[in-house]
Amino acid sequence: MAENTFLAGDAHWWRQAVVYQIYPRSFKDSNADGMGDIPGITSKMDYLAQLGIDAIWLSPFYPSALADGGYDVDDYRNVDPRLGTLADFDVMVGAAHGANIRVFVDIVPNHSSNRHVWFRDAVAAAPGSPERARYIFREGKGAHGELAPSDWPSHFGPTAWTRIIEANGEPGQWYLHLFAPEQPDFNWDNPEVIQDFETTLRFWADRGVDGFRIDVAHALKKDMTEPLPSVTSFAMENIPLDGSHPLFDRDDVHEIYRGWRTVFNEYDPPRVAVAEAWVPAERRPKYAGADELGQAFNFDLLGTPWSAKKFHQTIEFNIDLAAKSHSSSTWVLSNHDVIRHATRYGLPKKVNSDNWLMSDGKTPEIDLEQGLSRARAATMLIMALPGSTYIYQGEELGLFEVADIQDADLQDPMWLRGGKTKKGRDGCRVPLPWAKAGSSFGFGDGPSHLPQPFWFPAYSVEFEESQSGSTLKMYREMIALRAQLQGAETLEWVKSRKKVVHFTRPGGWHSITNFGKKSIELPAGTVVISSGPLVEGKLPAHTTAWITE
Ligand code: GLC
Repeated sequence: MAENTFLAGDAHWWRQAVVYQIYPRSFKDSNADGMGDIPGITSKMDYLAQLGIDAIWLSPFYPSALADGGYDVDDYRNVDPRLGTLADFDVMVGAAHGANIRVFVDIVPNHSSNRHVWFRDAVAAAPGSPERARYIFREGKGAHGELAPSDWPSHFGPTAWTRIIEANGEPGQWYLHLFAPEQPDFNWDNPEVIQDFETTLRFWADRGVDGFRIDVAHALKKDMTEPLPSVTSFAMENIPLDGSHPLFDRDDVHEIYRGWRTVFNEYDPPRVAVAEAWVPAERRPKYAGADELGQAFNFDLLGTPWSAKKFHQTIEFNIDLAAKSHSSSTWVLSNHDVIRHATRYGLPKKVNSDNWLMSDGKTPEIDLEQGLSRARAATMLIMALPGSTYIYQGEELGLFEVADIQDADLQDPMWLRGGKTKKGRDGCRVPLPWAKAGSSFGFGDGPSHLPQPFWFPAYSVEFEESQSGSTLKMYREMIALRAQLQGAETLEWVKSRKKVVHFTRPGGWHSITNFGKKSIELPAGTVVISSGPLVEGKLPAHTTAWITE
């Protein structure tokens, strides 16, 4: 394996990168088994290059029973045989680099799967053994240890504890899982765990991987001092700002990332990372520090309503926040965990996007036209900002959430473990439509592991290639212009009317978004692109334009 010398020396490539998230099982299937795979990604490298993105981030492709879409990892240093081989991975990285595209992989350090060799060994070994010490095992409460060690919930279901059957056939100790029971939490106080993850980081970096997305980066360190305190909700509002929560955002988690930085800096250019850390915003800069992961996801726009004032506040706040750690901000409107933003922006007012898709059949009507025009406008707005932008596969087609997946087809543990009330995240994970027709609309020559909706042909790559003004064409043009227009990481706000967000970037480039219902006059200059057609020279509702002076 060749060391990655791709653009060696440019240590700052990530600061204003456009990163395209691939959910591998749903991107492109090369062998007709209904599941997307690594050769499928390689086969679409031209498409990705034409989109103009700087990097791809692959959600987990490791061997997994898919209890949580692959975030339950059996083996951190291999490829799921259904998705390909390590040799296929190397070919994919080579093709990406050949197309000037960098590669991020997802590292899932909080928990493995229950099929990981370490967890199997732990269950087979005795309480108190070194094998058990790699995870978090405890005796139960009650006369016979029949009660969970604490009242902690899990993110997916009612409890964070599961009891095992010991080698003697009797119920025994309990293990901690902040997510599904198939996702036992590692014990990060154990030096073996620390070493093993550093080995994993080097394994992928040696194969030429350029960056890492760190799953649940805020949860690795826990205070397991007895008696365990009561924690009945994982809501972020309950995480204090002083690092004193027993499970989340503890100060000592940062020691781990300082160690990882040493690993990243062994490479040229240094490997980069972005933290998925659901912590109060004030606590984010630590994760993003240059001596730690370097960048942290800013998810604030996911919860920002369609309001010029609120967008302005969120943007200003996050630019200042990123500057505190000398990082650049990240902008996110969609990913594999949330409903697609074309749908989110079409929800009736006051409907909470977390709870809109329930099993009670009372899903509110979506205003598709409003949703898509706002989504296009919001994307063009964030693409004009300093910092890096993370886009999620299919948003370049203007895909909506697939809201009508039948209960029996749902795969998400959020649904399966959560009492079958919230439909969960499958609706944004449906395999992509590449073609107008054919089995699975060009996703593969076979079926698709989640059912695709009847409306996919009109959102397929093939169809959008043929349509002027399609969302795909807009993304291509916008990303190409962004690369030309973007200079220093600064922004000047232009005082403007209410319901308008207007700023300039170096070189006199304006981005102006109309959040209101009435068309507005544009500033003088040349309109280089707009997210929807102008009407009599004016910027209509829910539209963004870029203008050069
Ligand atoms: C992250 C992932 C999510 C997964 C969870 C547990 O939040 O983005 O998909 O379910 O971690 O690994």
